[in-house]
Amino acid sequence: MLVVRTIKQLQEELNQRRQASQSIALVPTMGNLHEGHLQLVKTAQQQADIVVVTLFVNPTQFGANEDLDNYPRTFQDDCNQLESINANILFAPSINEIYPLGGNNTSHVHVPGITHLLCGASRPGHFDGVTTIVCKLFNITRADVAIFGEKDYQQLAVIRRMVSDLNIPIHIISEPIVRAHDGLAMSSRNGYLTDKERIVAPQLYQALQEVKQQLLNGETDFLALENNAKTQLSSTGFRPDYCSIYHALELKPAKKGDKEIVILAAAFLGPTRLIDNITCSLP
Ligand code: PAF
Repeated sequence: MLVVRTIKQLQEELNQRRQASQSIALVPTMGNLHEGHLQLVKTAQQQADIVVVTLFVNPTQFGANEDLDNYPRTFQDDCNQLESINANILFAPSINEIYPLGGNNTSHVHVPGITHLLCGASRPGHFDGVTTIVCKLFNITRADVAIFGEKDYQQLAVIRRMVSDLNIPIHIISEPIVRAHDGLAMSSRNGYLTDKERIVAPQLYQALQEVKQQLLNGETDFLALENNAKTQLSSTGFRPDYCSIYHALELKPAKKGDKEIVILAAAFLGPTRLIDNITCSLP
């Protein structure tokens, strides 16, 4: 696997590949790779000739009191994992390479509307950071296709909106959530959990499953379902941020009669903020 640190070198490399008629798939990551990321790479390998994984802990998507400094950085282990599944190129730039004028001093991409809800409500500016770096990576690589995980459901919706609104010539593919044996969605932030918290953590998914079951049973009082789920999460030791029943495609609060539903939740376990979601097609 070729490890590239500069935009110039990456673009020279990718230009050669394009001249040889090779297609390019992009897998953006912030490193600390786990099975969920490897699954993104495997899907990317089915979609294009060359897979470029990017590893960049993007400072502009972290709020002032968030975990930027502590975010796990495991470069050598990430390289080993990517080598083991034959990823072609790892682009791991410095902050200065990506934001030579500083992260706060750069043009940015803002998707309106859906970025103010859910995670956007509790993490103001987060999605501007995400769309800005993702747009930059799309422009830097000019990839044909990019793969994102469905665990970050809102992020995926925001990126799809950006691509559509700005006519970015890239195809977005999503990959289902990869879960541990007990249902906990794979996330780099799971590594923050203590042993005790790790035992409790799968209850986030269980709460979502219970909401889904009640929707399938015909329950239509969405607010009551959301509140019950939050109460249940609080009683097991979480500090819930939100549990929301949304229209899966429009990403807005679901109305009675909507068929395609997504139930999304974010909750703190100790200092660790976990997110998860589950979709549901109602009859
Ligand atoms: O999902 C992530 O890991 C990040 O938000 C992304 C898409 C790599 C942008 O920094």
